[in-house]
Amino acid sequence: MWSSVLPLLVAVSPALLLQLPDYTSTQEEGLWQDYKHGRHDAELPDKKHFCSWKCLLFTLQWPGAFCQSLDEETLCTIPPSINNWTIHGLWPLKAWRCCKCWPMFESDVQELDAELKDHWPSLLRTQPSFHFWRQEWEKHGVCAACVEGMNSPLRYFQICLKLRGQFDIQRLLEDAGITPSCQRPYKLVEVHQVLAPHLGDKHEIQCVTDEKDREVWFQVKIPLSHNLTVGCDHDVDDGNPAPPRNSSHGHPCPPQVPFYYFPIDHQDPQRPCG
Ligand SMILES: *[C@@H]1O[C@H](CO)[C@@H](O)[C@H](O)[C@H]1NC(C)=O
Ligand SMILES: *[C@@H]1O[C@H](CO)[C@@H](O)[C@H](O)[C@H]1NC(C)=O
Ligand SMILES: *[C@@H]1O[C@H](CO)[C@@H](O)[C@H](O)[C@H]1NC(C)=O
Repeated sequence: MWSSVLPLLVAVSPALLLQLPDYTSTQEEGLWQDYKHGRHDAELPDKKHFCSWKCLLFTLQWPGAFCQSLDEETLCTIPPSINNWTIHGLWPLKAWRCCKCWPMFESDVQELDAELKDHWPSLLRTQPSFHFWRQEWEKHGVCAACVEGMNSPLRYFQICLKLRGQFDIQRLLEDAGITPSCQRPYKLVEVHQVLAPHLGDKHEIQCVTDEKDREVWFQVKIPLSHNLTVGCDHDVDDGNPAPPRNSSHGHPCPPQVPFYYFPIDHQDPQRPCG
């Protein structure tokens, strides 16, 4: 089974892995077919594909604007305990859409359950939090597992929680007087200035356009190196990773148009500011 093969990759030096070529999605599809039909001889190229990444993106989302990022806003819900930036995912670049070859079970992350529910909740009514985590594991975690320290669901999610603790965006902003508000829009440059020393110069602040044509901040992407230090010298342009389910409008917040950092409204998450 591939599930027992992947952890062995840890022994391979990252330097070697970096030189491996990319593989096309057609090939990936073929390998998935092979997996389903039990032809395991196709393992090798697939492993290379999974492990050839050089940078990661750690993505946090702001629940106050998450609903606005959905096509169908009524699908979202913000649990009462959620009052802070939450995790969207940790994504090896150019290796997203990884594989379903390493199944994840609730028992794998049982000991992290409470912490994950606090920091990585599903904000979709139709999706239990565990399904969100499993989806992120299958799409991204399995590739992250090429690196020692992330080579199991438990370790991957532990690392994500640790990163969440490291990037306390709400407090950084608060200390700089940038607080959620329905009235006051913020300029990209002022937010960037506050965050850059902590998230690196290449972090990306993402907005959605709401129904009143306001630019609203909903996500931040933090580039990390292979070894999880902030920043990544390699090309961070990831060829536009798959947007999360039902989210199509995310884009970098425009430098010229001030954007809103909406408060979280648990009662009316779709319309925190009318
Ligand atoms: C947000 O979470 C961080 C921990 O990541 C914590 O330090 C901070 O106090 C939280 N802010 C609020 C308003 O709960
Ligand atoms: C992590 O990786 C970066 C980029 O490859 C490198 O510059 C840095 O020295 C590494 N840091 C540690 C602590 O290994
Ligand atoms: C949004 O999600 C719902 C429920 O999961 C689904 O029925 C619908 O087709 C999705 N819409 C888009 C545009 O993906």
